[in-house]
Amino acid sequence: MNILAIGDVVGSIGCRFLREQLPRLKKEKQVDLVIVNGENSADGNGITPTSAEFLLSSGADVITTGNHSFRRRESYELYDNCETLLRPANFPVSVPGRGVCVVDLGRIQVAVINLMGTSYMESLDCPFTRADQILSDPSLPPIKLVDFHAEATGEKGALGYYLDGRVSALFGTHTHVQTADEQLLPQGTAFLSDLGMTGPIHSVLGVKPELVIQKLRTHMPVRFDLADGPCKMEGAIFCIDEKNGNAISVERVQIKS
Ligand SMILES: [Fe+2]
Ligand SMILES: [Fe+2]
Repeated sequence: MNILAIGDVVGSIGCRFLREQLPRLKKEKQVDLVIVNGENSADGNGITPTSAEFLLSSGADVITTGNHSFRRRESYELYDNCETLLRPANFPVSVPGRGVCVVDLGRIQVAVINLMGTSYMESLDCPFTRADQILSDPSLPPIKLVDFHAEATGEKGALGYYLDGRVSALFGTHTHVQTADEQLLPQGTAFLSDLGMTGPIHSVLGVKPELVIQKLRTHMPVRFDLADGPCKMEGAIFCIDEKNGNAISVERVQIKS
């Protein structure tokens, strides 16, 4: 089966580009399931019920998030009510929502796990230990994918090798920059350090470059407005062996307007 994962979708401009491009890509690559990182899908950052609904109605089957999961208070209830909207599983248990879901496609089930890194990020529970706990559940299906929302490539690579042979694929999100290190690890897990971003090409992580420059040069508060202009959609397609959950191939995707 083919599973498409899409990197952080930024704002309404990124959401609209995804809606425009996704149907054709799904058809062309015979995609069975789509995972989208939506932590920046709302204008002004975070995710709202409106932006989550837009992603789901555009073809996303599961939405993952990250350090911006809880930026928008209006989404808290949705995290509790929508099983396919995830926040990192290594948040404290008291926060809304869940970090794991199982999608039932009828003939086959797919587990999606969302974790967050702790290098140069908030000090959540250890993602390695949390992954062990999650994977000790025997009711999970053989096909399991992990969105590891993390800053450091070293931490992403380490978790990839730690989970090699135990999950079908581990891909990174958060940096908004697609890496070219897609590979099959020795025990059968597909790996990519970062999927990239869906949003305006001429931007710094989706934001107007002049605003980021101003912020970095002055260290004064600056409102980060989103850039516009031509867009890109970045991610990867993981081909998974349905019999044993091992990865067969991983192919990066980059579509530009
Ligand atoms: Fe992030
Ligand atoms: Fe992001």
